[in-house]
Parts: sequence; C-alpha cells; structure tokens
Amino acid sequence: MRSPVEPYRPGRTVRALERAAAAYRALVTESRAAPLLSRPAPVRHHGFDLDLVVDAIRPEADGVVGLTLTAPDGDVLPRWVPGAHLDLFLPSGRQRQYSLCGDPADRHRYRVAVRRVPGGAGSAEIHDELRRGDRLTMRGPRNAFRLVAAASYRFVAAGIGITPILPMVRACHRVGADWRLVYLGRDRPSMPFLDELPARDGGRIDLRTDGESGPPDVADLVPSAGPGTAVYLCGPPPLMTAARDRLRATAPHASVHTERFSPEPVVRGEPFDIELRRSGRTVSVAADETALTAIRRERPDVAYSCRQGFCGTCRVAVLDGRVEHRDTTLTAADRDRAMLPCVSRAAGPTLSLDL
Ligand code: FES
Repeated sequence: MRSPVEPYRPGRTVRALERAAAAYRALVTESRAAPLLSRPAPVRHHGFDLDLVVDAIRPEADGVVGLTLTAPDGDVLPRWVPGAHLDLFLPSGRQRQYSLCGDPADRHRYRVAVRRVPGGAGSAEIHDELRRGDRLTMRGPRNAFRLVAAASYRFVAAGIGITPILPMVRACHRVGADWRLVYLGRDRPSMPFLDELPARDGGRIDLRTDGESGPPDVADLVPSAGPGTAVYLCGPPPLMTAARDRLRATAPHASVHTERFSPEPVVRGEPFDIELRRSGRTVSVAADETALTAIRRERPDVAYSCRQGFCGTCRVAVLDGRVEHRDTTLTAADRDRAMLPCVSRAAGPTLSLDL
C-alpha cells in the first residue's frame, strides 16, 4: 500500500533557491549586521496574493454553489495538497476562507464550494452577486489540515465539511490506503459531492442523514480508531468538538485532526493593556477577546488571516513586556522578540508592540 502523502523531493532549482535563502537569512536576519540591514516589519500586508477569475458557478447541492477559479491569463496556479484552503477577497472586500475541493493535479483550476449561511454576508455575496468573469483576489493556498502518513484513515464530514475531506478520500483511495468515511447531512439533496465520492458501493462510506438515521450520535461516529489511525473531522464546531473529546477519551493513541475556519473562543484570558508604541496609543484587551481584536479597534489596517495562530500573518514585534505564547508557529528564537496577537496574550499587565 502506498501512502497518500507524497514525499517531497526538491529539484535542482529549488535546492539552489534554498541555499540562496539560507545565505540571505544568515546575513540579513541572523548576523550581527542584521539590525543595520533589516528593520522589523511587523505587519505583512502582501505576500501570497494573486488575482483569480470566476470561470464557472454551479449548484452543487441545496444551498451550495461551487466556484471554479482560474488565473486571468490561464496560467498555472500554485500547487496545493488535500486539506488546503484559500483566503478569498470578494469584490466587496470581504475576506473568507474556503477549502479547495477540486483535483490537486489540475494546475489551471481551483474549485471551492460555498454554503449559504443564514445572515452570512459573504455567502450571500457569492450566491447572489458573483458572476462568471468577476475577479477575486486570493491568498494561499495554505494548509493547516494536512494528511499525515498513517496506517489507516477515518474521516468524519458533516455538510459543507466534506470540502477538505473529498480530496483526502480520493487521495487515499487512489493509493489503496485503508480508509472509511462517515458523511453526515440533513438530507441527501443538501449534501454536496455525493456523486464524486470514490467507492460508493464498497462499504467504505457510511452516509447518514438526519431523516434516515436521526441526529448524529457522537459515540459511534468513529467506533474503532486504534494506534496508527489518523482521524479527520470537519463540520459544525459543536459536533466536531464533541467527537474530538470523545476520541481523546476512547482512542488516545489515534492522531486526531480537526478543521476550523473560525477561531476558538478565548479561554483562561486575563485583561491587559497594549501600548502601540508608534502611535503612542494604548488599547485595553478584555478577558474574552483577542489582542488582535483590540488592536484592530485602533489600527483596522493590521493584517491577519487564520486568526488561529498558524499562518503568521499577524506577527508583530514585541518591544516591552512578557508574552504568553499560544501559537503553533513561532520558534523559540522568534518568541523572544515577536508574538501572534490573534491567539497570544500578555503574561503581565502591559505589552508594548511595534505598531
Ligand atoms: S492571523 Fe494567522 S497567525 Fe495570526
């Protein structure tokens, strides 16, 4: 059985670029001369952005449309692997994240799917206003939900949560991996991509609708997940959190992966103040809000993306004060001088930031 996770083998050009990047890093960021050569740039406004054109919009299920996106000149698009998502900037300027659910081998097209959310301005804009030929800006692809190498795979997707899972099950199926999928939905017409799932008759897929099976029972979503099993969960946060907690108790050796497009609520937060050194202003951070939220009240231009501490977009230099780092991205050396305010907080009453 081959692994669905492709080993990375850089070519000669990439290896040369890596050597050049290492030399640049050594000189400009790590040498004694670094402070003279480069000044901290705490806010990254650009970096991955690319214009895309809406090539097609089609219904994929009740309340769900699929968007096919291409480069304006038809050029190849950046590579992605299952689990990746795009940040899309809509014509209104709204920013939304959507999982890529097409074929990673198709280098000329991205596909995302969008469910209409009651009261959701972004989904309403896409469903009601977006037309073929419209331009969007994207940032990414990024991936915080990667397929890991594992002996077997168990997937649980609910509703639009099938979007990152679909390329994963296809990749597993293509290489003959041991995989199973539980796919939950209100009813079949509301469940996108049913006809694109591989091995629909092979006993690997367990389709459960509320009408046929009743509301999902968390206890039997992943009945067996032994050591070496990777479990991937994507769907409404309350259901996924309950499933993850259950797995931690019943299958502590399984590796459990969940996809969230919204940040976790702040837990164990204490209020503190942030001095924005460049402007001389001070903002107060409440116990139940993030530092980023408070900063953006004063500085709405500060960039961010994932709001979950993994993309690094909101990184800012710390000039004074101690930080309680809650991210998964910064290295120990980074943590001496920077923080990710979307998740991290002050470890004392005040922080001074280079903003
Ligand atoms: S916004 Fe992604 S790390 Fe803060």
